[in-house]
Amino acid sequence: MKPALLQIKPMMPHVEAALNEAYSVHRLWEAGDAGSLLAEIGSGVRGVATDGHAGLPASVMAALPGLEIIASYGVGYDAIDVPACTARGVHVTNTPDVLNDAVAEMAIGLMISLCRRIPQADRFVREGAWLAKDYPLTGELTGARAGILGLGRIGKEIARRLEVFKMEIAYHGRQEQSGQPYQYFTDLTDMANHVDWLVVIGPGSPETAGIVSRGVLEGLGPDGHLVNIARGSLVDEPAMVELLRSGKLGGAALDVFADEPNVPGELMDLDNVVLSPHQGSATARTRTAMGDLVVRNLAAHFAGEPLISPVA
Ligand code: 8YV
Repeated sequence: MKPALLQIKPMMPHVEAALNEAYSVHRLWEAGDAGSLLAEIGSGVRGVATDGHAGLPASVMAALPGLEIIASYGVGYDAIDVPACTARGVHVTNTPDVLNDAVAEMAIGLMISLCRRIPQADRFVREGAWLAKDYPLTGELTGARAGILGLGRIGKEIARRLEVFKMEIAYHGRQEQSGQPYQYFTDLTDMANHVDWLVVIGPGSPETAGIVSRGVLEGLGPDGHLVNIARGSLVDEPAMVELLRSGKLGGAALDVFADEPNVPGELMDLDNVVLSPHQGSATARTRTAMGDLVVRNLAAHFAGEPLISPVA
């Protein structure tokens, strides 16, 4: 008999095909009444396939007494209560590494878009404004100072790319890392005071919630730019909105928000902001690799083999 698997959200067709092949899949989002579905099949469910956004709500997990593994599509697992899983002996896997390049590429794209005002320039051409005048001069990344919040696997890929842009690079994290050529700041506000760009790529967690505080944003200042490619939860979003509107924070390029897909309305008419709908890893190539890793982690578990990318 195929093991029963609860799928929380739709996944890429090749992932769904592989899951349907190996498991008896129950599709939670399609259930008219999730409670009834869980009451009916919950006790037999051994695995969950989800993503970094949906995670696994505590109420759903409570309805799965025989759960053995949660395989999540995404590197961030802040939507999964890992300590609760560990306490219950439930394994958790994520999809690290395969998305490093795509997310780093997106961070650079957002920075260039904000700095060189590419979205505005595109509109300028489309609206025919170029026929009447030249586009105003913009800023430039070259020679500017960037501070990376979270020099992990993706943070390092971003740093490497920024080096090519001849930027001066610093970082802040829980501790200084040996062998890094970049300046380490023990204090995030000190780093914000020092840099022109703050690139946020740390994990979402209770420890990092609100770490990019009003004080940090004020440190970045009227000529400073914030790039968030991590999680909205790291930034004091109301303070960010207020400072962007008043010009006390120069600009922001945002791929993530506190309450996705809801974006604060006050950002919509701001010219010093580039908005993106959580696209960091969203390339066909990378999402395919992430999906493959979800499938391979589940397969390893049910074959009694070591997990490929365990979180817990
Ligand atoms: C996905 C992400 O958007 O990897 C992450 O942590 O945020 C993204 O790659 C997310 O998993 C939802 O699909």
